[in-house]
Amino acid sequence: MNPLNHVAIIMDGNGRWGIKHKNSRNFGHRAGLKTVEKIIRASIRNKIKFLTLYAFSTENWKRPKKEVNYLFNLLENFLINKIDDLHKQNIKLKIIGVKNFSKKLNKLLNSSEKKTYKNKKLQINLALNYGSKFELINAFKNLLKNKKVINEKNLRKYLQTKDIPDPDILIRTGNTKRLSNFLLWQLAYSEIFFEKKLWPDFSEKDYNKIIKKYKLIKRNFGKV
Ligand code: FPP
Repeated sequence: MNPLNHVAIIMDGNGRWGIKHKNSRNFGHRAGLKTVEKIIRASIRNKIKFLTLYAFSTENWKRPKKEVNYLFNLLENFLINKIDDLHKQNIKLKIIGVKNFSKKLNKLLNSSEKKTYKNKKLQINLALNYGSKFELINAFKNLLKNKKVINEKNLRKYLQTKDIPDPDILIRTGNTKRLSNFLLWQLAYSEIFFEKKLWPDFSEKDYNKIIKKYKLIKRNFGKV
């Protein structure tokens, strides 16, 4: 059976879920946060060490201001209310992406990372204002600036995920089959699962089903 260390998730479908339930897109985001909490608990139960969640892409700034503000408020309140709890559960929080938010949110993100830095049970990588193309261009620029040989090993050192193993699994909910500028380098050999359900409807049972399927896949990594 394949070992499972790292699950990455594109949590798609919140907006559609909100509209489907005769409410707003933001209502969907709030429901999506409940699923985040559920999947954190399920990851611990499955002894997963790294969980990477795509919460806000560099492209998501193009959304209406009201929605962007709502998402960051949701995140702020989540951290204010839950970071102690995450810390008690031995969970480490790491942000990947560029932290150029409000002063208040940047401070909160930094203090949450600092507080949980030494925790070992599960590392949650929250991708915020993250874009894989930007990350790669930046890595190449740094390689050149530091006069390093351009090879895989050196490039990795300049990625935001430098201390994190590549994802074993990528899950994208919401019945859409694309990568949306997420971890393009890191997903080179990941097993990809596209899930029809919208993120707020994604359950622990659905998650466990994917994990079970993954564990039985013959992973070749290019060999036969
Ligand atoms: C994609 O669905 C989802 C997002 C861009 C935001 C993800 C946010 C959450 C799951 C809740 C907040 C999380 C934290 C950690 C505070 P979409 O809005 O693109 O859905 P659509 O495809 O139906 O429009």
